[in-house]
This record gives sequence, structure tokens and C-alpha cells, in this order.
Amino acid sequence: MTVHFIGAGPGAPDLLTLRGRDLIAACPVCLYAGSLVPEAVLAHCPEGAHIVNTAALDLDAIMAEIRAAHAAGQDVARLHSGDLSVWSAMGEQLRRLRAEGIPVSVTPGVPAFAAAAAALGTELTLPGLAQSVVLTRTQGRASAMPEGETLANFAATGATLALHLSVQNLATVVAELAPVYGADCPVAVVYRASWPDERILRGTLADIEARMEPQITRTALILVGPALAGEGFDESCLYAPDYDRRYRPQSASSPWSGWSED
Ligand SMILES: C[S@@+](CC[C@H](N)C(=O)[O-])C[C@H]1O[C@@H](n2cnc3c(N)ncnc32)[C@H](O)[C@@H]1O
Repeated sequence: MTVHFIGAGPGAPDLLTLRGRDLIAACPVCLYAGSLVPEAVLAHCPEGAHIVNTAALDLDAIMAEIRAAHAAGQDVARLHSGDLSVWSAMGEQLRRLRAEGIPVSVTPGVPAFAAAAAALGTELTLPGLAQSVVLTRTQGRASAMPEGETLANFAATGATLALHLSVQNLATVVAELAPVYGADCPVAVVYRASWPDERILRGTLADIEARMEPQITRTALILVGPALAGEGFDESCLYAPDYDRRYRPQSASSPWSGWSED
């Protein structure tokens, strides 16, 4: 018996990995975080599966479901939205499962920030503008921010910021970032990326608050940074005609000349 943690993706049911789909289909028990995991993903559960929305459960109740499946020798598909590596609450479940000797596996999913970038049709790391993406959030009721993880500190690097769980704090975000990035720094708010009711708002730190729409109170990402402009960047060397590299040696004296994978 194994608990399979599966990243269910950002919303669109077809943004689930094939491995995730097959695992869901093979598990007689499915626990899903119902606030963000699309119901359509549950269509992959086998007939008669025990399906539980964990949105209203606490950690002890979730563990009780898993222990019952463990006692019955039944594999569990544990679904969380997006990918499991960020804000999934997988860590605390893994800790308890490992302490109890219950086997686990982890299958990644498409994270919301990638779905938001896709919706914008943009690359978040554009040469000459930004070469780093900071996945972060503002402080919420449930999670304090560690000292040093401030927006101003992250912004000082000039990186692209992908702010999760923060759309309700937009005014704070703007107030903290405008002095560092400048009021004309581009911003995008992507609401429910990849869902049918997806919305994209673009603006700058100066006007994004005025452009906000009342229905956007959660499930949105705020992306900030010079790369959001999508212009004024350099071309990468990778495809430059004269760039000497492993797969395209430029001369017989190139260190890559004659190189082969095997
Ligand atoms: C609990 S976190 C889950 C993050 C998830 N594990 C991931 O990999 O993206 C929830 C936050 O992720 C962001 N989010 C999740 N799904 C989203 C979507 N489809 N569109 C925009 N933002 C989304 C929002 O900022 C939301 O407040």
C-alpha cells in the first residue's frame, strides 16, 4: 500500500500528467483538496472508489482516512492543486506518514505560476531583464513569513516575482514594490489560470489596483518585474549563429568538435 501524492495541475483537467492520471485510475481511495482541484480530474478514479474532499478535514482526520486505507491494503491517490513542491501542505503529511512507516510516492504537477505565464504568453526569464523567478507570497493568517523573506528584499534582486496567496494584499504589494521597481514596472494579475473563467489583468505598479475586478479575491497570481513587459530584452546566445556549443560546434578546433552523447 502506498500514498501517491499527485500534483493535479492548475485547473484545466487536461493539465494533469499521464502518470498522475494513471495513478488516480489505479487507486481505490482518492483524497483531494477540493478547494482548488477540479472535479473533472476525479473522473479518472476507478468505479466504486472511496473519494473524499479533504477541504473541510483537519490533518488528524486526513491521517485517519489514510490509516484506514493502509489497514485495508488500499493505495491512496492524494491530490493537491498545481505542483506539490509549493504550498501544498504535503510536507506535514509526509512527516507523519514516514513516522508511521507508510510508503509514499510523489508525482509532480503543472504549477499555477507556469499556467499563469502560459496564459500571458510570456517567458519570465528574459535575457538582460530577469534571469530568476521568485515564487513567494505575502503573510497570511495561517503562515507567518520568515524574517528576511520580504518583498523588498526579493525585489532588490530585480527578479520576476510570482506572488501567490496574495491578491487580497495587492495594496501592500504595490506599496512595498513600487519604491524598488518603480511605479511604471509592469504587473499582471492572472485569475484562475487555465480555468474557463480565467481573467488576465495587465498594468503597472501605478495602476494595477485601479484595474482590479471585484470577483478577483482569491486563486490569482500577481506577477511583477521588468520581464513582464515582454520587450526590451536581449536574444539569448543559445541560438546565435556564431555561438560555439556542444550541439553546434563552429570550427574544427571547437572543444565541442567531434563530441557525441555516447
Ligand atoms: C495553496 S496555493 C497552491 C499552489 C500550488 N501548489 C501550485 O503549485 O501552484 C494557492 C495559490 O496558488 C495560486 N493559484 C493556484 N491555482 C491558480 C490558478 N489556476 N490561477 C492563478 N493562481 C492560482 C493562487 O495564488 C492561490 O492563492
